[in-house]
This record gives sequence, C-alpha cells and structure tokens, in this order.
Amino acid sequence: MSAQSQVRRKTVKDIAKAKGGTPIVCLTAYDAPMAKLMDPFADLILVGDSVGMVVHGLDSTVGVTMEMMILHGQAVMRGASQAMVVVDMPFGSYETNPDVAFLNAARIMKETGCQAIKIESGEYAAEAVEHMVERGIPVMAHVGLRPQAVNVDGGFRAKGRSAIERKRVLAEAKAADEAGCFAMVVEGVAEDLADEITKLVSCPTIGIGASANCDGQVLVTDDMIGMFDWVPKFVRRYGDVRGEIGRAVEAYAADVKARRFPGPDETYSLSTNGKTK
Ligand code: KIV
Repeated sequence: MSAQSQVRRKTVKDIAKAKGGTPIVCLTAYDAPMAKLMDPFADLILVGDSVGMVVHGLDSTVGVTMEMMILHGQAVMRGASQAMVVVDMPFGSYETNPDVAFLNAARIMKETGCQAIKIESGEYAAEAVEHMVERGIPVMAHVGLRPQAVNVDGGFRAKGRSAIERKRVLAEAKAADEAGCFAMVVEGVAEDLADEITKLVSCPTIGIGASANCDGQVLVTDDMIGMFDWVPKFVRRYGDVRGEIGRAVEAYAADVKARRFPGPDETYSLSTNGKTK
C-alpha cells in the first residue's frame, strides 16, 4: 500500500457532522495539480460543471457533457487524497427520470472514483435523489440559483426576490433534504433566506453568494485566485493569478525576442568526454 493511499479521505459522515460546527471548506477544481494544491485545506472538492465556462470558454454550463465531467473528475481524483471529491452531473444527464439519473451517476462514480455526485435540484428532482441514495450514490443537492436553468431564468439571477420564489427555493431545499441528500449547495440567495434554509434542513448547507448563514462556503477557485478581470459581488479575491501569468508571459516574450532566453544555464552542451551536461 502506498503512503498516499493510507491517508483517510473525508466521507459523507464527516461532512454531515459539520452541520452547525466549523464551516465546511469547499472549492472547485478541474485538474490534478489544482486538486493537489487545495487538498490539504479543503474538506470537499467540487468538480463543478462550471468547468464548461471556466476552462472550455462556454457561455453557460448547458453545453457540458458527461465525457467532460468524467475526464475532469478523473484528473481531480489523481490530485486529491484527503478531501471528499464530488462531481457535478451535467445538464440533461439526470432530469428525465430516476433510472437515467442513477445510470449516469453510477457511470461517473465508476469511471472517476469520486465519492459523490451533485445535481441541481428543483422540487421535481427529489425522486431522483431518493432513488440514487437508496442505491448507494451519495447526492449533494444544489438549490437557489441553478445555473443550468439559465435559459428559463433569462440570465444568472439571485433567487428569493418575491414571496413565490422564496417559497419555491424553500420547497426545493426541503424536498432534497427529505430525499436524503448529504449536503446542499445554496447559490445566490439573500442572507435571511440562507438562514431559513440552513435552519430548515438537516444536512449542511454550503453557500455561494448565500451569506455567512450557511454551514460551509464554496467558490469557483478561478474567481477566488483572480484568474478573471470580472469579479462577482459575492467573491473575495485571494490572489492575482491573472496578473502573475500576464507578467510571466510578457517577460518570457521579451526575453525570447531579445535572445536573452534561453541562456547558458538553460542550454545543453556536450562536455569534452562526450557526455551531455
Ligand atoms: O459548477 C460549479 O462550480 C458549482 C458551484 C458554483 C457550486 O456548482
């Protein structure tokens, strides 16, 4: 057994226990090096379908496929050893009926080795959540702003502005919780609604743009590390990766053009005994 495989990976039980305790730390990752960097600090790593927008340049998550989620899920699993890894089910892979949801979720789990899947769960999805959980698939729900519904909503809009919308989000949360999800992402809701949801459900809530009134927080890592010039209101930037990459590429280009790179230190030469140095 390798040293790496002896690390105990977090499980649904660890996440469930965190309800009302120390906040759960969750971030997105789509590749092995990023997963490895965040693994010591994260309780949960989410292979979000945001990969479609962040990595593949899509306008929304609607175009994300099973193959994309599986490929990125496999990469993240190679980088993470202690955090629990959850892979998003893409739009169209779970809505038809609970059997389709189970088959696609099982495929994601078998082919990536992840510990759980996440679905954007309108009230209708409760049946699929229950069906999957009963058959051995831990499910993380996602309520409030559901990015896969962007075409119905006409944009990415925070939820809970009207009494009807508020009631709908609460009903979604309750239905997913009663159906057995082990945790729930709450996205894009005001703090009083986040508070009400967190108090209503028995599972931990993990907020994104949903105030501190949740049992944990998740951000899209690329937003948090400063990869993009536009920062949504709910994001705090902890780095300037975009600036750092820009500066590095600019300096490299200048060195290449001025023939400063490569220099003697970066150049192989044949020594007198015929060996390469
Ligand atoms: O796809 C994603 O990254 C997500 C987070 C925004 C929670 O669902």
